[in-house]
Amino acid sequence: MSASQELEKAATNYALEAVRLDKQGSKGMAITMYQKAIESLLKLVQLYPEYSLNKVYIQRAIAYQERIKILQGSGVAPVETHEEEKVENVESARRTEGEKSSYEELILAEKPNIKWEQVVGLENAKKAIKEAIVYPVQRPDLFPLGWPRGILLFGPPGCGKTLLAAAVATEIDATFVSVDAASIMSKWLGEAEKNVAKLFNSVRKSAIEGKPAIVFIDELDSLMGKHSNEVGGEIRVRNQFLKEMDGIIDKGKKLHVYVIGATNKPWDLDWAFIRRFQKRILVPLPDHHSRLMMFKLYTADLQLAPDVDLHELARLSEGFSGSDIRDVCQSAHLKLIGEFFESGQAANKQAKPRPLNMSDFRQILEERKPSVSLDMLTLYNRWFEAFRAL
Ligand SMILES: Nc1ncnc2c1ncn2[C@@H]1O[C@H](COP(=O)(O)OP(=O)(O)OP(=O)(O)O)[C@@H](O)[C@H]1O
Ligand SMILES: [Mg+2]
Repeated sequence: MSASQELEKAATNYALEAVRLDKQGSKGMAITMYQKAIESLLKLVQLYPEYSLNKVYIQRAIAYQERIKILQGSGVAPVETHEEEKVENVESARRTEGEKSSYEELILAEKPNIKWEQVVGLENAKKAIKEAIVYPVQRPDLFPLGWPRGILLFGPPGCGKTLLAAAVATEIDATFVSVDAASIMSKWLGEAEKNVAKLFNSVRKSAIEGKPAIVFIDELDSLMGKHSNEVGGEIRVRNQFLKEMDGIIDKGKKLHVYVIGATNKPWDLDWAFIRRFQKRILVPLPDHHSRLMMFKLYTADLQLAPDVDLHELARLSEGFSGSDIRDVCQSAHLKLIGEFFESGQAANKQAKPRPLNMSDFRQILEERKPSVSLDMLTLYNRWFEAFRAL
């Protein structure tokens, strides 16, 4: 397969997995996968500017970006039923839906392929995760006293919690199950408690057979919150989760089953739950250096004019999350490419878009506000001081 075909195939696979996760309500992981699809498409366009399908690729990238925005916003519209059909080669890759039970569907088919290096900064968080999961999986014999099974990632939105979970999935050859707590209740109406038990049974089985298993629960607060009520059987589901977690912590001493929970509202969690996550890790907003590294990362494949000063961009983006910074870079690039196609220049196969300049970035930055407020940051730090456990 040629390099361009490989990229195209990668984009297709990521997109299919994204749509699948999206349908099943795994918001965070779906976003990560849409993002990988966009990256592959943009790389394709960048590397093969004369390719005839480029316009289609750009349109797909923009469509995925819009879907990400919707998922990040509050009111989530369901993904279009025919979305897969727009993804090319869908027939060959379509999975046999309907045959799998709902919890087996949660197992990530396509690993997100996020490397540690792609997670900028967050050195403490990475170190803690490696100590808690990666090392014990590699050399359990070196941990006679056992090791933590529950890890809580908390912090402001868009700073890398889901990304870290994705990096762990890539790092160890594990069965990786991604559940979005918010959707468990709605999808598994009435069956939720039973399905939680089945889910843990199936991951335990994987671990017994020698393959470590990681259960990633995104938006933990929506299920485990203090304010959950009994309307949809939340309390029973919650208790089932607590029971399963105890099972992992006590009986399964040698089993490699881990639960990673993520939340941006840790103060909504009740103590019964917090207690079972022996490691609690703050995933903070990026500092100046991390923002600089993020701008480097997210412009690495782009052509920049000499006036682009990444230090200045890092300075201008104080208070921005990693997700904000990626959006700024991607929006600037997509806007430029969009204009290139609109102007008709793309018809000339020799023509290339102009490089991105500082004013492209400034325009986008001016339209955006940081998505996390100072008050929120104080709350995270207070909670961290009260419940820290590294
Ligand atoms: N530390 C980081 N390094 C590199 N990219 C990052 C980082 N943090 C965030 N990003 C970018 O922002 C995107 C969103 O981040 P992610 O989904 O991990 O945030 P989150 O902390 O899980 O947010 P939420 O609380 O909203 O679920 C990532 O896919 C990545 O592109
Ligand atoms: Mg997330």
